[in-house]
Amino acid sequence: MPKMNNSDNGKLNIGKDIFVPLLSEEVLQNRIKELGEIISKDYFGKVPVFIGVLNGAFLFLSDLIKNVSVECEVDFFKLSSYGDEKISSGKVKLLKELNCEVAGRDVIIVEDIVDSGLSMKYIEDLIFPHKPASMRIAALLTKPKSLRYDVKIDYIGFQIESNFVIGYGLDYAQKYRNLRSIYVLSDGEK
Ligand code: IMP
Ligand code: MG
Repeated sequence: MPKMNNSDNGKLNIGKDIFVPLLSEEVLQNRIKELGEIISKDYFGKVPVFIGVLNGAFLFLSDLIKNVSVECEVDFFKLSSYGDEKISSGKVKLLKELNCEVAGRDVIIVEDIVDSGLSMKYIEDLIFPHKPASMRIAALLTKPKSLRYDVKIDYIGFQIESNFVIGYGLDYAQKYRNLRSIYVLSDGEK
């Protein structure tokens, strides 16, 4: 695994790749607070179940629900699509099923990032047959230029370019999820 070095200007050198800061901890937390407040208004009087998509969404989901003021429940799916690469394998594998009953529930799926939309489509197709009362999607990041599947994202943190990003839950070969900010692979280094 390439070694990660912090350079003086906030860039991360990971092997031959250079990642530059994209979204700071403060910017992320402010936007997540706003999303939490919007969701709290939208679900007033309801008890939604937040379904996080592991692994990437674990930090976003935990910060999001801390900003939600209605009663809620939490569950997780675990999917894998990227393997250890910077591009999607194009195949989704279900590694962990849901444990909660979604029939008649107000479901909010929580994703770190929607890229092609394949994972979201896959999850929608898994949940719909169980007849939830409603189903919405919250994604911290979307890459609109990469979207290939017909999915509607109801709560979007930030729309970004199609470059590979890491940090705040997002990995490269399972590492760097613990970074507090989000970094983008520098254009010159793709
Ligand atoms: P999609 O199925 O093509 O929409 O890809 C979505 C999944 O791929 C996300 O849940 C992430 O786990 C992963 N992914 C997409 N883009 C990135 C990225 O830039 N960095 C890290 N993971 C990513
Ligand atoms: Mg994910």
